[in-house]
Amino acid sequence: MEAVILAGGYGTRLRPLTYKIPKPLIPIANKPMVMHIIDSLPQKVEKVILAVSYKRDVLQKYLEENPPEGRELVLVEEKEPLGTGGAIKNVEREISGDFLAFNGDVISSLDPSVLTNTLIEKKAGAVISLWRVNDPSHYGVVEMRDGWIRRFVEKPRLNEAPSNLISAGAYALSYDVLDLIPPGRVVSLEREIWPILVEKGMYGMEFRGYWTDAGTRERVLEANSLILQGMGKKLIAGNGSEILGNVTEHTSIGKNVIIDGSAEVSNSIIMDGCILENGSKVVDSIIGPEERIAGRVIGEIFCTGYSNVPKN
Ligand code: GTP
Repeated sequence: MEAVILAGGYGTRLRPLTYKIPKPLIPIANKPMVMHIIDSLPQKVEKVILAVSYKRDVLQKYLEENPPEGRELVLVEEKEPLGTGGAIKNVEREISGDFLAFNGDVISSLDPSVLTNTLIEKKAGAVISLWRVNDPSHYGVVEMRDGWIRRFVEKPRLNEAPSNLISAGAYALSYDVLDLIPPGRVVSLEREIWPILVEKGMYGMEFRGYWTDAGTRERVLEANSLILQGMGKKLIAGNGSEILGNVTEHTSIGKNVIIDGSAEVSNSIIMDGCILENGSKVVDSIIGPEERIAGRVIGEIFCTGYSNVPKN
């Protein structure tokens, strides 16, 4: 079986970090988002297809240096991003039957084999994972009957939402779905393909545990915190890092980071090779690779796009 991971978006809400690295490579608990998804795949997935576009070369280099064990990995490029549906159509030649598809920025406790098993059991055209939220007014919300999806309502008013269930960005799709997607142009799965699939039989599966679509600073930090809590850790640090300052929960520190004695860090992601000087303070922030921080960084995505760390 194949799994397609959508990994070609611009990640505009995570700029300036995504000027430097593509969103799927942003580390959550020191592991790139895309690797969290790959590691969650059931064993029957033998081939992982990454639909890439923006910063393809950076993704390719990372995956060549860190290949996932025991699975074939294929990168398929769109010259320009074709949208979530167009990207899936563009990888058609790599798919041999029913398949899994994921948004590349979903961090969750979902077991994807539940989706593929349900696809077979229910003889559905698609099975979509669903997550329950308190306020669905910012999401695509589903209306369901007996597990079958009747319609999607985009960003409803709170009192008009048909349910509290939203799409969690992971799907099992029957091979036939590929025939529904027009080739060679931008296509949105959510806007163009789901409404057709609802007519053909689209089943929804709610799951519990944790879920976040890590598309903004707040959500990336939430995902980081969720994973660290799951590991029972307040903080993790990669090889070669030297932490002298005060670091509080939930913080991930990459490799070869120096946090000087009077520096303070909380609820943040500090990427590889950073130096936090004495007197610096980093709170609720993501610090891109190889930055030198001397002052206060509060609630920011900090990435200058170049290294000012002395190399020796
Ligand atoms: P924003 O610009 O901040 O909205 O981020 P994004 O470009 O990643 O868009 P969004 O969060 O809606 O995308 C959800 C997932 O689909 C992400 O994993 C994206 O990488 C992926 N994605 C979005 N658009 C495309 C596309 O045109 N092609 C491919 N291959 N992937 C896409």
